[in-house]
Amino acid sequence: MIGIFCKKNLKILFVGAEAAPFVKIGGLSSVMKSLPKALNEIGHDARVMIPKYLSIDTEKYFLKMEHEGLEVPTGNSAEPDHLVCNVRRCDPIKEEGIVTTYFLENQEYYEKRANVYGYSDDPVRWALLCRGVLEFIKKNRNWVPDVIVCADWQSALIPNFLKTTYSNIPKLTKIATVFSIHNLYFQAMYDHRFVSEMDFDDGHSEIPGFDNPRLTKINWMRRGIMYADAINTVSPTYAKEIMTKNYGELLDELLRERRSVLSGILNGIDYDLWNPEKNPHVAFPYYARNLSARAKNKASLQGQFNLPIKKDAFIMAIVCRFTKQKGLDLLMPILDLILQELPAQLVIVGEGDSEYMHFFHNLETKYPDKVAVHLKFDSVLAHKIFAGADVVLVPSKFEPCGLVQLEAMRMGTIPIVRKTGGLADSVEDYSPEKQTGTGFVFEKFDSSSLMIAIIRAFENFRDRERWQELQKRAMSKDFSWESSAEKYVKLFLQAIAIHGPK
Ligand code: GLC
Repeated sequence: MIGIFCKKNLKILFVGAEAAPFVKIGGLSSVMKSLPKALNEIGHDARVMIPKYLSIDTEKYFLKMEHEGLEVPTGNSAEPDHLVCNVRRCDPIKEEGIVTTYFLENQEYYEKRANVYGYSDDPVRWALLCRGVLEFIKKNRNWVPDVIVCADWQSALIPNFLKTTYSNIPKLTKIATVFSIHNLYFQAMYDHRFVSEMDFDDGHSEIPGFDNPRLTKINWMRRGIMYADAINTVSPTYAKEIMTKNYGELLDELLRERRSVLSGILNGIDYDLWNPEKNPHVAFPYYARNLSARAKNKASLQGQFNLPIKKDAFIMAIVCRFTKQKGLDLLMPILDLILQELPAQLVIVGEGDSEYMHFFHNLETKYPDKVAVHLKFDSVLAHKIFAGADVVLVPSKFEPCGLVQLEAMRMGTIPIVRKTGGLADSVEDYSPEKQTGTGFVFEKFDSSSLMIAIIRAFENFRDRERWQELQKRAMSKDFSWESSAEKYVKLFLQAIAIHGPK
């Protein structure tokens, strides 16, 4: 079977809830943009399909009508038995790294909503995406993918639908599926950890219709893992971790059962975008061999955040979603001490749970000369921060991959990370004796371990020459998509082989 697919002609459709630059909430959106782009650069035809949210600008991206009046069956026992959607298309825009992207359009479920996630009828919204994608492929004469890559739970019913409801449609039965886990924690709307036995979803029952309350209770993540031909996650360490009780979110047993088709491929980042020499958001361009312009970027960062302009300040940055996952709880008890004892400044960009929002806001009020917060996620600011900050803190409790540490290293900001998931795979602990390593790594999930890592970083920061060597090493690591894209091609060929010639 593999033989008939030479390595250059795969047609791959990525389906998920978000894709940059159209809609950006989390790291998933970056991967949904840069991975298809990297695959196309090595000769494949990778495309993307997401819902058409209100915020996506039809004119800016020249969206064309691809399919008008697509009828998507609801599986309801009563009316309506279908919902009417359109599919719009954005053609590739090379300068912006955009590949062919399809948008499922529906007034009620996407167009009228200001947000991407968090509605009580989310199960219907995502079931509509899953079926909408399949109905679109079924009716589309021009393009049928060899592989569909479903990202996270919102698209996880596609493999299940293909093996059941759509199993007698020849055009669709040939399609292999890969289920990509970007975050195992989120398994659907329903909190899978507290379900009663009666509501437990073993994944074998028929997918309920859109109007069936049971749709809210099925475990989409479980079904993605059960029905896809191959499963992958976004780093080799996280792939191992999720097969353990500690990280498995109650799906570790199932993941162990499916281990022969489970792999971990480290995410890359777009090296063109995060290039400090050519980055439009970097005021003073620089490169690894000559870091002198970084001092000016540091001053401009301090200026922008209204912090005193001090060349010797140890600028620590936090750039993330404020959720439990990110390990901010470890930082909260030690920040007072750090800010009082070290000549440090702290720059925070992100948004999320209110307890963290309040905490950072209060911290800024308490230390106006040392702390500056921007409580809204802002991708442009992230570039400016990594051009001028000294370290970035990523003390995650778990981290499927993490992109921030990769972006920071590329720009010469040194990561301080917990040894978990993709952080463990991408940051090597600094050794002053051997002059190796690219960051500061701690293992135990506790505040003192994090504190020691921060102090270690600060002590080394004071030795300017060595610190620059460390920056150069971090900057010269290759976390572009090149090698990971090749690994994905192998994974797709494996999924096609497992799927067989149906
Ligand atoms: C999720 C994960 C993060 C990963 C990203 C992209 O946001 O939490 O670790 O980098 O997806 O795969």
